Amino acid sequence: MTSSAPVALPVFRASGPARLPRQWPRPSGSVAADLVRETCRYSAWTMEPSAPGPVAISTAAGTSPSSFYEVVHRRRDVRAEFTGEPVDGGVLARILRAAHAAPSVGLSQPWDFVLVTDAELRNRFWEHVQGERAVFGDQLHGERAERFAGIRIEGILQSSVSVVVTYDPARGAPDVLGRHAIADAGLYSTCLAIENLWLAVTAEGWGMGWVSFYREPFLRQLVGLPEAVRPVAWLCLGPVSTLHDTPDLERHGWRRRAPLDAVLHAERWHELMGADTLVDGVSLGGGLPPRS
Ligand SMILES: Cc1cc2nc3c(=O)[nH]c(=O)nc-3n(C[C@H](O)[C@H](O)[C@H](O)COP(=O)(O)O)c2cc1C
Repeated sequence: MTSSAPVALPVFRASGPARLPRQWPRPSGSVAADLVRETCRYSAWTMEPSAPGPVAISTAAGTSPSSFYEVVHRRRDVRAEFTGEPVDGGVLARILRAAHAAPSVGLSQPWDFVLVTDAELRNRFWEHVQGERAVFGDQLHGERAERFAGIRIEGILQSSVSVVVTYDPARGAPDVLGRHAIADAGLYSTCLAIENLWLAVTAEGWGMGWVSFYREPFLRQLVGLPEAVRPVAWLCLGPVSTLHDTPDLERHGWRRRAPLDAVLHAERWHELMGADTLVDGVSLGGGLPPRS
């Protein structure tokens, strides 16, 4: 984390294929420039001969390495707990590299990440989301309507930075290995990048909130996406005061988490199995004999 004032994100407009200028503007101490430098090492821009090689990835200074399962269970969807302080570009770069390391159908890596810090864009998105909140709220009645009225659904203005994650179905097409029968596999891949990003955010001690109360054409137009590129998520990121142990929707009585038992099946859909039967020491499955 840094106490320096936030800076505008530097923008590079390339006439041909995306290339990083050899001497690109890099004001010293600029969070955004550091972020771009870090991120570019792993992008197509690394084709620049002067680009540095891969760097060792370390955790944020002062944080102890968390175990994977701790991070998984600590992760929360955050709305009200963002501190709004400016963020360290190096941390954001680590988080984005984790997202970009996600698996993808046919190695298509069909995602893009649009960083949004601009106040006008965030305000306009926030207003749009309020409208969609009202649309959903109008569909509810009685106790459900009352409960929803008390639930926050976003931290767009309070979070430090926003990331719009998009899906490009043309990436790697037409012969995307593994997508011929399931068109949604590209979208699944993008969601895996978001999950990686969410876990990385948590490992860094930040929080993230996923906002989906929007219409795709509005967000596409707001951040200038090409017609064929779908916005998949508006993510609010940044340092937080706390991460609750319990999801907000559960805390507000909207819905409770189901136990693993409720979704674990044995061999066929109609056979639910208790997770307790998978005790330590039980051995399951294994390879089959070769088919003759
Ligand atoms: C695809 C997707 C869209 C979501 N959209 C919203 C949203 O618009 N607003 C919101 O408050 N939470 C949103 N969430 C967060 C969920 O409400 C949250 O993940 C769920 O309540 C469980 O809480 P937890 O993430 O803290 O475990 C979204 C989550 C996902 C995966």
